[in-house]
Amino acid sequence: MTVMTKPEMKDARTVIEAPELSPASLPKPGLLSVEDAKALDLPRMTELFKAHLNPGQLHFMKLLGFHKVKVERAEGMHYIDQNGRKILDFFGGFGSLAFGHNHPKLLEARKKFQDEQRHEIAIAFMSQYAAALAHNLAQCSPGDLDMVFLGSSGSEAMEAALKLAERAAGPKRRKFVYAENSFHGKTKGVLAVTDGQLYRADFKLPGENVRVPFGDIDAIEAAFRADPEIGTIVLETVQGGGGIIEAPAEFWRKLRELCDRYGVIWVADEVQCGFGRTGRFYAFEHYGVVPDITALAKSLGGGKTAMAAMIARREIYMKAYGTPKTAMIHAAATFGGMGEASITSIEAINLLYDENLIDNSAETGAYLLERLKTLQAKYPKIIKDVRGKGLMVGLEFQDFSQTLPVVLRPIVGVLDDKLKGSLSGFVGALLLRDHDVLVAFTEYNRNVIRLEPPLICSRADVDTFVDALDRLLGRGIIAIVRDFVKSQVS
Ligand SMILES: Cc1ncc(COP(=O)(O)O)c(C=O)c1O
Repeated sequence: MTVMTKPEMKDARTVIEAPELSPASLPKPGLLSVEDAKALDLPRMTELFKAHLNPGQLHFMKLLGFHKVKVERAEGMHYIDQNGRKILDFFGGFGSLAFGHNHPKLLEARKKFQDEQRHEIAIAFMSQYAAALAHNLAQCSPGDLDMVFLGSSGSEAMEAALKLAERAAGPKRRKFVYAENSFHGKTKGVLAVTDGQLYRADFKLPGENVRVPFGDIDAIEAAFRADPEIGTIVLETVQGGGGIIEAPAEFWRKLRELCDRYGVIWVADEVQCGFGRTGRFYAFEHYGVVPDITALAKSLGGGKTAMAAMIARREIYMKAYGTPKTAMIHAAATFGGMGEASITSIEAINLLYDENLIDNSAETGAYLLERLKTLQAKYPKIIKDVRGKGLMVGLEFQDFSQTLPVVLRPIVGVLDDKLKGSLSGFVGALLLRDHDVLVAFTEYNRNVIRLEPPLICSRADVDTFVDALDRLLGRGIIAIVRDFVKSQVS
């Protein structure tokens, strides 16, 4: 395969003379074909990633050993790399792979749709697929959560939720309450209610919003009482990026009651914790309450497509967009409710129930927690906490920058700032290298490993994962750090 590069330019602002050519003689740029893309080897992939995607990100990939893996195939609970190595996926795309990789029923539905040459874009004629998907989502949603907006990312669904809430609350109540350690996406609107300094950086964010500790009902009441301009509160039901954090169980009923009393709209972000992940379709269903607006994404696309939804109570929706004059203010974007994406999600929702995956999430998740708690009792100096619901589990390590023998701390100090004080990076990297297991890290708490395996996960998969972790932790912290440091120089 020859890969052509772009013609050399003096600098990015060089003005190129338009060539006087007939369209037929327009030269084709040096393009790669699909077959070329599949055949790229690791050095070439790295080169292209560096040249065109995100050079800085390679740094993290190298620390974790991800740069040595070229995924050739993915099936069920596993990735299969260039050497035929099977990697057990306990990362699950941060909850995007409820059905595992390439579930045959999803592939079949998509193939049939393509063979029948069905239509895709849903912005001219009405789409029977988008309509059926919206119906299914309303069926799965309690109360009068009946009105659906379809988009293609969690951020887009959450933007839709915030815009709807703002219009329904009215111009005098534009402020939002959001939680410490929240994550709702990276687009500018949702960034204004996302707490991570990493993502907020120094952007000028819209709105004057009010931040409260997650799960603190008194702080919320104080905020509502103090500021009549507050019209909306936005919360993840289980915080994912914060490190798998749950509010106290009684919090949610009190929140519902407070929102009703003060006329505040409650937006429940279920992008990560929804769609069966915690053992209920929505995590808020554990508490017998219904929010005013919610959002799903990730596994809603079956791990095969980009699909997201905002689902709102009809009354709220109608207030904001219920007339012909207001209907187009936030109607679907170009790719909202695309045909193949919609039928993939229709099939995915059916599969969730046909294959009892929500029950499996509750049962296998409880088994995972039980086994991890046993491991915590075995390694109390290494594991600080184990928590979660269903197959959304957090494993928090002791901050080993404090527990490691003093002589070893300088070695760790030379490693990247992002991994300093964190055992999770070391453990994750060695789990992948030595035990063929992939786990996820956590943005705001680098001592936490996030476990969000596909909901098809079996007890045997849990055993494979926990046994691998047991063998790794059995080496002891010093050996783990030494091996990690060695892996960085080899
Ligand atoms: C709770 C939550 N909300 C919103 C988002 C944003 O979703 P996306 O990355 O699809 O834009 C995420 C993504 O991780 C999330 O976890």
